[in-house]
Amino acid sequence: MTHEKRGSFGSRLGIILATAGSAVGLGNIWRFPYMTGQNGGAIFILVYLLCVLFLGLPCMLNEFIIGRHAQTNTARAYGIISGRKAWKLVGYLGVLTGFMIASYYAVVSGWCLQYIVASGIGELKGDSAYVQQYFTSFISHPIKPVFWTVFILFLSHLIIMRGIQNGVEKASKLMMPTLFILLVILVVVACLLPNAWRGIAFMFHPDFSKLSGDVLLSAMGQAFYSLSIGMGCLCTYASYFSKQTNLVKSAVQVSVIDTFVAILAGLIIFPTAFSVGVNPDSGPSLIFITLPNVFNEAFRQVPIVGYLVGVAFYVLLSVAALTSLISIHEVSTAFVHEEFKINRKTASRWVTLICAFIGVFCSLSMTGWESLQIGGKSLFDWFDFITSNILLPTGGLLTSVLVGWVLPKTLIRSEYTNNGTLRATSFAWYWACVKFVCPVCIALIFLHQLGIL
Ligand code: TRP
Repeated sequence: MTHEKRGSFGSRLGIILATAGSAVGLGNIWRFPYMTGQNGGAIFILVYLLCVLFLGLPCMLNEFIIGRHAQTNTARAYGIISGRKAWKLVGYLGVLTGFMIASYYAVVSGWCLQYIVASGIGELKGDSAYVQQYFTSFISHPIKPVFWTVFILFLSHLIIMRGIQNGVEKASKLMMPTLFILLVILVVVACLLPNAWRGIAFMFHPDFSKLSGDVLLSAMGQAFYSLSIGMGCLCTYASYFSKQTNLVKSAVQVSVIDTFVAILAGLIIFPTAFSVGVNPDSGPSLIFITLPNVFNEAFRQVPIVGYLVGVAFYVLLSVAALTSLISIHEVSTAFVHEEFKINRKTASRWVTLICAFIGVFCSLSMTGWESLQIGGKSLFDWFDFITSNILLPTGGLLTSVLVGWVLPKTLIRSEYTNNGTLRATSFAWYWACVKFVCPVCIALIFLHQLGIL
């Protein structure tokens, strides 16, 4: 069973679309707009861009280098490149984080599917109290959200099971262009609304008086989350890159696409919200409560446009979520497949089952089940908190320390330049970031998130 040939991506376009598919997800369309709304608008975006450049990009390259060098699952990759068993633990941590993220990510992705149906059959029409009530009663329903959680995990399973080229790459080549088209249509419609300029100004006219430690640190955390850094996701994908792949160019392209999508998502949400005078600072419920409302209001004269925009938006969200979910799923599948020496399909089935099992409890914890609440927080909230605030920064930090301080610089340089065949003009910049900027800044986010700073 262990003789299956290891998969790889078939083309450069496939590499870029699949990796961008991992990066572009709920983080861009759900988390980025509400974080921007809560953290002062343009100033947050400005800090975010700096974080992508100085932290995100180098950390993405770290994972690419480790994964492409070792060409195996994330746990073994850390062991192979360092030559020491202890570093394998960072890989194990990534796999564990992967299981946890997949489980709660599937819950939110499931909500998006429900919202496609709900907006499709016109269930989201009503005043703001109604839309609010709809969301609360839906997420605390004992069956509906559980059904969608399992359903989207099953979709992700169907893709993963088919392997890298036939599954992940094909799906990304189909879904990513769909996503771009929907995104552009929605941006155009949103920016044509009356008073849309207010939303645009909110995004691009920074108010420096709003700059604070919180803004800085939330922007850093968002950059990590959005670029899929810190749990070996990019490392796993990079293990399917070819030795000819230009890692630096790929990392730049993926980061640019990811950032572009986040900005475009903002250009849908803020102009629509401001055109009806809604303040976009409601937090995580922004796209599930505020937005349906805003769509109803903004297109009151032409309800059919409001209807189409609503459906298209949730399709967009679900497509983005699915391409990210498969990347998280793949981390664990590759691990189970290669470490336990069982074939890919069986490995994928196990991962799906385990994630579905945990996901069901995450979803049920929203119904207020007492045994699924710990210290006043639901299991779902705990998973979100522990993964994004603790496990991801830890993974990113340890990886930067490994690359910047433990591994030989010649090895890193040779992967960076494909054995000296590519120019290395940016290497000094990358090296400075990895050695100093990343560890220091990540340690800061980490301490802040734990409330120590
Ligand atoms: N980046 C994805 C998003 O923006 C989520 C994601 C996928 C992720 N893989 C990850 C986040 C790995 C952290 C780590 O929605």
